[in-house]
Formats: sequence, C-alpha cells, structure tokens
Amino acid sequence: MTAVLVVFAGKNGGTREIAEVIATELRAQELRVDVRDAADVAGVEEYAAVVLGSALYYSRWRPEAVRLLERHVDDLRERPVWLFHSGPCGPGAALVQVSLPAKVAFLAAQIDAERTATFGGRLDPARARGLIARFMASGRRAGDFRDWDLIRAWARDVGRRVRTRVLL
Ligand SMILES: Cc1cc2nc3c(=O)[nH]c(=O)nc-3n(C[C@H](O)[C@H](O)[C@H](O)COP(=O)(O)O)c2cc1C
Repeated sequence: MTAVLVVFAGKNGGTREIAEVIATELRAQELRVDVRDAADVAGVEEYAAVVLGSALYYSRWRPEAVRLLERHVDDLRERPVWLFHSGPCGPGAALVQVSLPAKVAFLAAQIDAERTATFGGRLDPARARGLIARFMASGRRAGDFRDWDLIRAWARDVGRRVRTRVLL
C-alpha cells in the first residue's frame, strides 16, 4: 500500500491535531499514513509522498521543520511534497494567506514542493507561556481558528493527487 508521511512541527499541539486530521482523510483513501513530529523523523526514503506542516512563530517555521527540509532535500526532491503552515488567529483568520518564510521558500523551490496551504491557528490563553505569548493569546486573537472543513477538503485533494501521481 502506498505510504505517506505526515509531519508536523509546533509547540502547543495545534499543528499536531491538524496533521492527525489530514492523516485520517488520507487513510480514508486507502493510503498508509504515518504521523510524526518533525524532530523525530530520521528519513523519508520509505514514503511515496510527504506532507509537512509547521506552526508559524514570529513569521518563521519551527526550526525542526526547517532542519528536516535541509537534511532531506535530496530525498524530498524525488517524491511529491505538500507543505502547509498554521498560524493566523482572530477575525478574518480564515482569509489570510501567509507566504513561506524566505528560507523555507528557498528549500521548497529546491524540492519543487506543491503550493503551500495556510490554515488558521489556535491561541489558547491557558497554554500561553511568557509575556509575548500571553499578549498574543489575549483579546480577539484568542481562540481556535482552525477550519476543519477546509483542512479536510485540502487533505482529500492531496490524497487524490497522491493516488494519481504515485502508482498504486
Ligand atoms: C509568541 C507567538 C508568536 C506567533 N507568531 C505568529 C506569526 O508570526 N504568524 C502567525 O500566523 N501566527 C503566529 N502565532 C500563532 C501560532 O502560529 C498559532 O497559535 C498556532 O496554532 C500554534 O501552533 P501549535 O499549537 O502547533 O504550536 C504566534 C503565536 C505565539 C504564541
């Protein structure tokens, strides 16, 4: 069965939950899926396709996601790769499209990754550690802005493309 690796990088679990929902949709298309934290990925050789997503912090991807792209650029180039990031919170979050940070855009171009999806994020005041995080998680930005219908639809589309691009 075709194997897909879904990798996430985040700090507070919001991006991991997105990765798990993506994996559920891919499994529904009879793909074999592993979900891994970017920090735990030793290699991608055994997978036919990769989905990689990071939380956005200070307009950057998490370092473990960037490291994964850097370390495995040659192997990633040889298989289809879909990228997403999660972050925008507050009113209108659903409409925000965030460009890839420059370093990630450079790596994405090297591996010829598919166009990046932006998903809303979650700012939970109860999880906020530190002054800036507490400020970020206050007011109208506080809450869960992940659009599960959008995420599921994107994942279904990725699944269809994996099935057509990779011989089953
Ligand atoms: C200190 C801090 C900085 C953040 N910076 C950004 C940012 O630059 N752009 C953005 O879209 N979201 C930003 N966010 C929102 C996070 O990306 C969002 O909360 C995301 O869902 C976190 O994912 P995680 O739970 O997997 O860590 C920031 C959040 C915090 C607490």
